Amino acid sequence: MSATVSSGAGLRPEPFTLVIFGATGDLTNRKLLPALYQLFAAGRLPEEFTVVGFSRRPAEEFHAKVGEALAGHARDPGFARFREGFFYTQGDFEDADAYRRLSDLLGETDRKRGTCGNRLYYLATPPSAYEAIVAALGKSGLVGHPRRSTGGGWTRIIVEKPYGHDLESARALTRTIQGVFAENQVYRIDHYLGKETVQNLLVFRFGNGIFEPLWNRQFIDCVQITVAESLGVEGRGEYYDQTGAIRDIVQNHLLQLLTLVTMEPPVAFSAEAVRGEKVKVLKAIRSLTTQDTLERTIRGQYQSGVVGGRAVPGYREEPRVAPGSRTETFVALKLFVDNWRWSGVPFYLYTGKRLPSRTTDIAIWFRRAPHLLFRETNIKEVEPNLLLVKIQPEEGITLRFGAKVPGPAVQIETVDMDFSYSTSFRVPSRDAYERLLLDAMLGEQTLFTREDEVEEAWRVVTSILEGWRASPPDPLPTYPAGTWGPEEVDALLKRDGRHWHHWA
Ligand SMILES: NC(=O)c1ccc[n+]([C@@H]2O[C@H](COP(=O)([O-])OP(=O)(O)OC[C@H]3O[C@@H](n4cnc5c(N)ncnc54)[C@H](OP(=O)(O)O)[C@@H]3O)[C@@H](O)[C@H]2O)c1
Repeated sequence: MSATVSSGAGLRPEPFTLVIFGATGDLTNRKLLPALYQLFAAGRLPEEFTVVGFSRRPAEEFHAKVGEALAGHARDPGFARFREGFFYTQGDFEDADAYRRLSDLLGETDRKRGTCGNRLYYLATPPSAYEAIVAALGKSGLVGHPRRSTGGGWTRIIVEKPYGHDLESARALTRTIQGVFAENQVYRIDHYLGKETVQNLLVFRFGNGIFEPLWNRQFIDCVQITVAESLGVEGRGEYYDQTGAIRDIVQNHLLQLLTLVTMEPPVAFSAEAVRGEKVKVLKAIRSLTTQDTLERTIRGQYQSGVVGGRAVPGYREEPRVAPGSRTETFVALKLFVDNWRWSGVPFYLYTGKRLPSRTTDIAIWFRRAPHLLFRETNIKEVEPNLLLVKIQPEEGITLRFGAKVPGPAVQIETVDMDFSYSTSFRVPSRDAYERLLLDAMLGEQTLFTREDEVEEAWRVVTSILEGWRASPPDPLPTYPAGTWGPEEVDALLKRDGRHWHHWA
């Protein structure tokens, strides 16, 4: 992949200013600042690299937070030079004067630091602020034309998740954004796409000859995609209570993973070709009727329990969660991709909070061998082959197959053939935000979701939300924290004669 994707090839962005809306927030501190510093330390940022923070708190608080977030690097050579590039505009997103001050500051940084009118805006704010900021940027003349920018340079915008609350609100947000920015200026983040192992899925499929001929309904029995979290809502109860697992994880991360597993080979490794194929396969995912949601979805909410040896409260006892909340913290569902390659193959998606471990993986189960040759022995069944793509915490790929146990009798046991990132490459995987920030700086959109991708994902999820509204389960299934979800989840696969791979 490094041969074809720009940032991997070691390019350096042109001088520009990164404007972070929400510069005093959690995302900026925990993810953006460390990623920016790592890029700087790796020599990936231009000398003139400039950051302008924008939020309500006074400038001193912003600078103190930057200092705290990067405290471990304060003695690094070059750190002082990195810090010199940080500026701030204090203001409210609704206040037109604040954008005038921002505009003045950007003019000044262009002059003093030679950032050439190039601007990358980052919406690290509550989603409710996105539309106001975009509209204000447009009104204040802070958005250049995609080719002829007002300041003589380029303008791009990174939009964080969640992108909308359902299909209608996502479309409304797109209308606002497209009223001000052209699609080739918009970078919608799904940080899963910045993970090495996720990108490796495409290399694994399209850079190797052996698996692609098997990658279809004739050889694959089913696919299970899991995003399990052991954490709870971690102080974000208010946000999560209005969101739930299906909006928080299924609409973006899980459907993106599903798309990468199922898409057709693109004609080139370009943003338009890759995203075009992703949209096609998303369009082929069947929406669910109310009856389908009853039969093919399971949701649940965690109760108190023990995770990692520690007693944890139930979801309804979490701070800023409504005491009678019916928000799902767990979802399992079965989808179908109605196209030539995947017709009839079930895709089981699985996600939840307070599960026993933090695990993201994709299990591709192959069909059983067509004939059981060993019937005369004690062997009644041979396990089907499994290809397990491990995304976190371990990163790698495992192929599971049957092998003969040494000895005179015919006995078969499943064994694993393993590829592990850490042992094969011996370089730590970079944080997803590093990769995605660098790509946006370079104008590389392949790993960002296009407007029609987001819309198709919302179409599927909105059909489920509507089904759930029409037939709410009473009571909502629950599961003790530290278990693999509500009891009902087992039945979803057992009915089909299958089992979840992580329960095996
Ligand atoms: N945190 C994460 O790990 C994470 C992960 C993935 C995605 N995200 C997404 O990233 C975005 C930001 O999340 P967050 O957790 O960083 O939120 P947060 O900690 O609540 O930070 C919000 C930021 O927005 C600023 N802000 C809010 N309202 C404002 C207003 N009216 N005018 C000016 N500034 C205002 C706040 O400034 P003041 O503090 O100065 O008021 C603060 O800097 C959200 O869309 C979230 O879904 C977050």
